[in-house]
Amino acid sequence: MERRDDRERDEVLAVEDLSVGFVQDETRTVLARVSLSIGRGETLGLVGESGCGKSTLGRAVMRLLPANATMDGRIRLLGADVLSMDERAMRRLRGGAVAMIFQNPMSALNPVLTIGRQITEALETHTGLRGRAATARAVELLHMVGISRPADRAHEYPHQLSGGMRQRAMIAMAISCDPKLLIADEPTTALDVTVQAQILDLLASLQEKLSMAMLFISHDMSAVASVADRIAVMYAGRIVEEGAAAPLLRDPAHPYTSGLLNSVPHVDGARRTRLQAIPGSVSAGSADAAGCSFRPRCGFAIARCAVETPPLADIGAGRAARCWLASADWRPAAAARSMAT
Ligand SMILES: Nc1ncnc2c1ncn2[C@@H]1O[C@H](COP(=O)(O)OP(=O)(O)O)[C@@H](O)[C@H]1O
Ligand SMILES: [Mg+2]
Repeated sequence: MERRDDRERDEVLAVEDLSVGFVQDETRTVLARVSLSIGRGETLGLVGESGCGKSTLGRAVMRLLPANATMDGRIRLLGADVLSMDERAMRRLRGGAVAMIFQNPMSALNPVLTIGRQITEALETHTGLRGRAATARAVELLHMVGISRPADRAHEYPHQLSGGMRQRAMIAMAISCDPKLLIADEPTTALDVTVQAQILDLLASLQEKLSMAMLFISHDMSAVASVADRIAVMYAGRIVEEGAAAPLLRDPAHPYTSGLLNSVPHVDGARRTRLQAIPGSVSAGSADAAGCSFRPRCGFAIARCAVETPPLADIGAGRAARCWLASADWRPAAAARSMAT
């Protein structure tokens, strides 16, 4: 088992008590004191339904939030304090030591440049490579991400590639400068299921080969399950459960995590079991409101849940859950079974 100080020495990203609000007519808090950390070479899966604040967190780390965003707390990225860094230093970091990929590669790729040129441009900006050496490296990167005939493909424009190939090209661009951290925000959501699985495999193998850390963001628990070492579950702007992937998936401690897992279709033999969606939807209220924000959708809520916000409490074995009921021996799945009998 890894010791805590080993982890701190190898830390790539540490987010501490990060709160983010968006100012419109009034300020709405969308992240409330979020803390998480990622060690070197580790993949943290951040999962939650749409609107929970996952992209806001990813963008805050890259300092890519719009001008109406307010931020409070601390973000330490590769030892640097992100919130106080000047814009020049931040630009050097983006696309270099820290890279990001998104759901829609078309929005990140330049439509008027060949994919080869886009990669060499990144190499020229962030590394010493120029000219033929940069071109050779670009072709090598396209090969690494599984693009066949990479030397020819380097001359193609984004619109000439399929969705999956475009996502591969974006991944090639993202890894071109040997990032220490890759932030992947819903990188497979726009793809069909088979291509999705191929991209997940690619990300997992690159992550290992390049020993880069990854923040993998998705609303899809099964995608997260296939790549993450650790999982952080986000609900309405707060982390509600965190822990090593395998035990969290096997034995979720928070009713929300349990609900997300129940909505993942399983294939039992030849039969696909019915999807059980969590009733209701994420409230649009302030993330720092009193009480547990999952309460209106929770089958186990007690009076206390309406008035006091549960802390993200240690439940043993390196796991934590933000629920008044969660403990070393209370689990929503078992509780639901005993309620049914
Ligand atoms: N620029 C913005 N201005 C105001 N509200 C925003 C802005 N961006 C996101 N939000 C709100 O913040 C919340 C979290 O959004 P987001 O981080 O995109 O969630 P997720 O990525 O988990 O789907 C949502 O309620 C969304 O409407
Ligand atoms: Mg998002």
